[in-house]
Amino acid sequence: MDKAKRKAIIAGNWKMNKTPSEAKALLEEIKPLVSDADCEVIACVPYVDLAAAVETVKGSNVKIGAENVHWEEKGAFTGEISTGMLKEIGVEYVVLGHSERRQYFGETDETVNKRTKAALAAGLKPIVCVGELLWERECDITEEVIARQIKLDLWDVTEDELKNVVIAYEPVWAIGTGKTATADQAEEVCAFIRAQLAKLYNQAAADAVTIQYGGSMNDGNADELLGKTNVDGGLIGGASLVAEKFAAIVKAASK
Ligand code: 13P
Repeated sequence: MDKAKRKAIIAGNWKMNKTPSEAKALLEEIKPLVSDADCEVIACVPYVDLAAAVETVKGSNVKIGAENVHWEEKGAFTGEISTGMLKEIGVEYVVLGHSERRQYFGETDETVNKRTKAALAAGLKPIVCVGELLWERECDITEEVIARQIKLDLWDVTEDELKNVVIAYEPVWAIGTGKTATADQAEEVCAFIRAQLAKLYNQAAADAVTIQYGGSMNDGNADELLGKTNVDGGLIGGASLVAEKFAAIVKAASK
């Protein structure tokens, strides 16, 4: 990562894990382990855990994110959550376009874009996830897939708004599989993402965007991945549920 140009950010994506009391307990464990971090530390937790999580991290350097948000402010959208609801309880970040939402819940680049714009308008910082499927990589269209996602997901996002956007590169084949992209593969695509941002905006704007890698990142491989120029942090699934492992990744990003 290039700390002279941008912030390192380590974010846990807890997915559908932990009840509110379990969330509180895990955050209490995490807080002292990351208190001297020289990077931003975020836990993105299930909706029902958010209030307890925000309360638990008060006075610490840990920030809280949600795992999705709807684009409408209110109305007849049973089961959905608005940006205003998240803001009112003190949520700062929101994961958008995660591959699990794309794969299992019909998320498209169009809806990711609507959510991204709504989040930015409300003052939430979106962590926008992009990544190719295994067969897309095998067919050698990784760059086309990523370029399309970046362009569509950030459609109509201004240069000023881009300052609050985090991109997470998560190759779908590496998520929860134990198969990590090699540090070189991660760097190649993160650099490609930055080049796309430079095309869509300009080089200075692109240089300031934090681009995370996600997909089986853990305490064993974080050092090498985060050692790459364009890998500015991590979006961590499984390893973020174990305080010591998460803290070790935060430590690697703090170097
Ligand atoms: P794992 O770290 O469990 O592979 O999950 C990555 C991920 O999907 C983070 O959003």
